Amino acid sequence: MEIVHVSAECYPVAKVGGLGDVVGALPKYQQLLGHTAKVVLPMYRTAYLYKHDWDVVHKGRTHLGNWWFDYTVIKEHTSELGFDLYLIDIYGLLDREGVYGYGDDAERFTAFQVSFVDWLSRWSHQPDVVHVHDHQAGLIPFIMQYSYDYGHLKRVPTILTIHNAQYQGWMPWEKATYLPRYDTWKAGLLDWKGMINPLACAVRCAWKVTTVSPSYMTELMYNANGLEALFEYEKGKCSGILNGIDSQVWDPATDAYLTTHFDASSVHEGKAAHKRALCKRFHLDPSKPLFIFIGRFVGEKAADLLPAVIGDCFHYIGRTMNFLILGSGDPNVERNLAHVQEMVGKDFKLYRGYNEQLSHEMYAGADFLLMPSRVEPCGLNQMYALRYGTIPIVRSTGGLRDTVVDFEDWQGFGVRFNDASVGDITQAIYRALGLYQDQERFGAIQERIMHIDHSWESSAQQYLSTYPVP
Ligand code: ADP
Ligand code: GLC
Repeated sequence: MEIVHVSAECYPVAKVGGLGDVVGALPKYQQLLGHTAKVVLPMYRTAYLYKHDWDVVHKGRTHLGNWWFDYTVIKEHTSELGFDLYLIDIYGLLDREGVYGYGDDAERFTAFQVSFVDWLSRWSHQPDVVHVHDHQAGLIPFIMQYSYDYGHLKRVPTILTIHNAQYQGWMPWEKATYLPRYDTWKAGLLDWKGMINPLACAVRCAWKVTTVSPSYMTELMYNANGLEALFEYEKGKCSGILNGIDSQVWDPATDAYLTTHFDASSVHEGKAAHKRALCKRFHLDPSKPLFIFIGRFVGEKAADLLPAVIGDCFHYIGRTMNFLILGSGDPNVERNLAHVQEMVGKDFKLYRGYNEQLSHEMYAGADFLLMPSRVEPCGLNQMYALRYGTIPIVRSTGGLRDTVVDFEDWQGFGVRFNDASVGDITQAIYRALGLYQDQERFGAIQERIMHIDHSWESSAQQYLSTYPVP
């Protein structure tokens, strides 16, 4: 089977969050299962681009309304990622260092999608499935089915994977002129409440829809940032497939970012060495349990609650634990965390920014990982934490609910709580401290969680069985 993935992120080419990890791994495992998987990405100006050799595979010309532009498709020469990687270059739009967050993102990603379909329409054969990820590729199923210029792509099956329904790519209707000439009787498919909504459009037009955990699929019917009714209506073609983790990248026994390696049989010494190094670097006391948070400071991750949680823990429980936070995002959250850091003096450190190396060191050296997410479609951090012997503390939502069992429940190993509130998170930390004090039980859980299998093999297989056939 030949599968073409279209996405805005793919690790290690361009990663902002878990979408990058998934698109960097799933195609590789599909290849290992004997299929041909290709990934198509915008050609941002990231470090990966300059460190590799590329072949030009296509030069084309297309347009957003009256604005005609040239695009170039290049392919990584050696397919070193385990699949063929293609980048689409559009001068003036995609040639930037960052992935998202520009004022013209609507133009950037629409031009990317229009160019992709234009290039696909010139292939000498048709792939078995076009697999689009999130709203940045969400207009593709519509364009393939209803654009007069690309009528011959109508019968190519499409599948949408939703990694996060909070972001939908809304555009005002004036921008409808960007789309290649389409059957205007179908304009309603683009619309959701008076705006062009690429995610809603993809849910309607893709042959199948998946999201990244079974629980999140259910949640979308009552919490989908305005699209609840659509998910209820389309549920027949929707399913949830839990993400995996790439064990070639995320394995403490071989991790290229770590200097000291360990497995389940050496977890205690291995983690202790990493914890000592982390605590030395951040001036924390290694005799105290270390709680970490790694992530984007956005509403879904509930990082805004952390300043109050840290304050309450130190006030009500005492100075019996350390916190180390890695992340960036909402300036208010950054400011509040920096302020708390100043106030408390020690036992809490904030590393503001994105640092892949440090994230691996933190999963390796921490005792507990905090994920109080308000919304978490799947979540990869908790799966990485498990693999590195770090006990996850999670809110019962989405993929967190599907991957973490409370340690007080049958065969449990993590800490779960219900509300994204300061009180519930503080109470969960209190329960975690109780577990930490019972070092024998704590150590046994650390060893056990390292064996939990969240590898991609079975999820990659599930995608293959879910792909639509004409
Ligand atoms: P999301 O995609 O919603 O951000 P996930 O849990 O699926 O959440 O994936 C987050 C990914 O991004 C993980 O690989 C995590 O380690 C990484 N990550 C998030 N923030 C940072 C950061 N500041 N530095 C390094 N890695 C980060
Ligand atoms: C999104 C979600 C996250 C998920 C990731 C990969 O960014 O927020 O929960 O793990 O995509 O699917």
